[in-house]
Amino acid sequence: MNIVFGILILVAIIVVIAVVGIFLVTGLTGAPYVPTLKDKLPKAFTELYKMSEKDLLIDLGSGDGCILNEASRTGAKCLGIEINPILALMASWRFYKNKKIKIKCRNFYTFQFPAETTVIYAFAESLHIRSIYRKIQAEANRLDKTLYFISNAFDVPEVKEHKKVDSFYLYKIEPKD
Ligand SMILES: C[S@@+](CC[C@H](N)C(=O)[O-])C[C@H]1O[C@@H](n2cnc3c(N)ncnc32)[C@H](O)[C@@H]1O
Repeated sequence: MNIVFGILILVAIIVVIAVVGIFLVTGLTGAPYVPTLKDKLPKAFTELYKMSEKDLLIDLGSGDGCILNEASRTGAKCLGIEINPILALMASWRFYKNKKIKIKCRNFYTFQFPAETTVIYAFAESLHIRSIYRKIQAEANRLDKTLYFISNAFDVPEVKEHKKVDSFYLYKIEPKD
């Protein structure tokens, strides 16, 4: 009995260490898991960028999927790219009945955007915002189309935003040769 109890305690400790480790390691690759404040969010998809069923939004680092959920209400298709397998699994489970939402457990820096992509959302952090902007520019060049980028809380240094509403910055990224 004591041995079984000891094994259970050991398994529980290993699970806790694994979960904490996954959140720590994945948080270092782009941004730690902190969800966007939901009360301001609808404005991002109405006043800042008028989203519709013609759009495909990608959330770079989709966390619990709250952005995908809000964006899908506009009729847009939504794709979440999340490096943390626990969050990706939980969000996939949460939205498995919603045909507008798909989630992939991937690193967004190496993910190629689908050709129908129109708008990209990110709640990253200042250290990563330039790299994320460069990634979206590279995808705009590859797809040879204009992409819109909504950044929550962080502006891109030395780049003039197209529009700003509350904490959301909108950038229009044109393809370059
Ligand atoms: C600040 S949270 C934002 C969550 C959600 N987008 C929101 O606004 O509520 C950032 C998320 O990005 C994920 N992330 C960090 N680096 C990533 C990377 N390189 N590729 C994919 N996801 C990443 C983290 O695991 C975390 O869930």
